[in-house]
Amino acid sequence: MKRSFTKRTRIVLGLTAVALSAGLGINQLMAQSSQPIAIEASTFDCLTDMTPVRGFFVDNLLGDLDATLAAANAPEGAPYPTGSVVQLVPTEVMVKQPEGTSPATNDWEFFELNVSPQGSEIAVRGFTDVVNRFGGNCLGCHIKAEPQWDMICETGHGCDPLPLSREMITGIQQADPRCSAPEA
Ligand code: HEC
Repeated sequence: MKRSFTKRTRIVLGLTAVALSAGLGINQLMAQSSQPIAIEASTFDCLTDMTPVRGFFVDNLLGDLDATLAAANAPEGAPYPTGSVVQLVPTEVMVKQPEGTSPATNDWEFFELNVSPQGSEIAVRGFTDVVNRFGGNCLGCHIKAEPQWDMICETGHGCDPLPLSREMITGIQQADPRCSAPEA
């Protein structure tokens, strides 16, 4: 009697362990297969409709703008959350894809856009090999930001500065042709 109870207990424990590890396996699988956020040209619109932070603009494609702002405003820097959109100028965008999408870029996807009153077109997109219209590789510059800044350059984060004054950058931001487009 005693022995069979013990045996049954052992079987139950064994089954529990199998169930737990199966559950764990499924969770890990789900985390790994977390699909990239679907992005198309119409994802991007008027730059200055986004939320300004120290002269650049942010948004969050998953609706968690607060988390993106928290990272952008963290005094010691922080990893930007999945879904974050960051822009300095109308034609260049960084979007944070789910963790594990692209370890080499901290999961940032880089975009070069063409913009017009008709909207946005994606000229180039990708991770390590996106080159802008001036021949510069996005990652090549942005990787120089010190690690705590999550590849966001701003000024003083370790990137080589852009040859543009604040006034020039503001002018480029205000000239986004998508902003004055009539409402569709
Ligand atoms: C020559 C180096 C260089 C290249 C190439 C470059 N960037 Fe940047 N980028 C910078 C610097 C420096 C800043 C910060 C400028 C400032 O705030 O004065 C910046 C700013 C930005 C910002 C605003 C957030 C931040 O990091 O300050 C985004 C978004 C961005 N770049 C995206 C891109 C994308 C996308 C590409 C490629 C299509 C690209 N950049 C190519 C150097 C570069």
